[in-house]
Amino acid sequence: MTTSGALGGKSFLASARPSSNVEQVLKNLEWPGQFPFKEEDFQRDDVSPDSLFYKAPRFVTHIDDPAIAALTMFYSRVLPPSNSPGVSILDICSSWISHYPAGYKQERIVGMGMNEEELKRNSVLTEYLVQDLNGNPELPFEDNSFDIITNVVSVDYLTKPLDVFKEMSRILKPGGQAIMSFSDRCFWTKAISIWTSTDDTDHVLIVGSYFHYAGGFEPPQAVSSFLLQFPKWLLLLHGVVAFRYLLHSSES
Ligand SMILES: C[S@@+](CC[C@H](N)C(=O)[O-])C[C@H]1O[C@@H](n2cnc3c(N)ncnc32)[C@H](O)[C@@H]1O
Repeated sequence: MTTSGALGGKSFLASARPSSNVEQVLKNLEWPGQFPFKEEDFQRDDVSPDSLFYKAPRFVTHIDDPAIAALTMFYSRVLPPSNSPGVSILDICSSWISHYPAGYKQERIVGMGMNEEELKRNSVLTEYLVQDLNGNPELPFEDNSFDIITNVVSVDYLTKPLDVFKEMSRILKPGGQAIMSFSDRCFWTKAISIWTSTDDTDHVLIVGSYFHYAGGFEPPQAVSSFLLQFPKWLLLLHGVVAFRYLLHSSES
């Protein structure tokens, strides 16, 4: 397995995927010893500050209705029941909508994103903060403070994903779950080059690698189109989910 040179990341992707079945690609995978991606894999066409690109609010949905319905149904299966005492959720790269089940509530649901007007309008959030994760990938929360972290169609914009995923592992409670979902759409000029130069199955491997190399997570699992009752031609929405180790890293 070649992992060096400018194409290290792509060579890894080419050699790591024996099957195009998305749900299988993270199974029995032998990860290279070192993170296979290089700095150039995280470059983007638009190098202007993200604060400029996200300055004006976009009150739009970034995926189509069937994809939203599938994601919401997936959430309804895996999220703690609404109003569970002591549950905290963080939605990173959040906007005016989080796609949780209708009326979903928890004591604490924090949204982090780039546009305050969008976040202000997100009715599921109990608090929000604006932070450019490419400028500052630290998540300003205590260790072990969240049960769930979600990220919808935005992982492809992170230029320091390992830093963000390490932070996610730090702030998740042991056994907590991170759910990354992504589609075949993106703001092309703002997505990292390893994303725009690869396909949907590769994207699962890329996000899986973030969990693997960040450490602190159980092996990541791929979820394809979220629910089979939605015919696949209607939507393209994949996800990678991983649980935080039950033991803290210092104990494991
Ligand atoms: C395609 S939108 C998706 C928004 C939302 N998750 C949804 O499903 O509607 C991309 C989101 O990523 C967030 N984002 C992009 N670059 C970011 C950065 N550098 N730091 C933090 N958030 C970022 C933006 O705030 C934007 O809302």
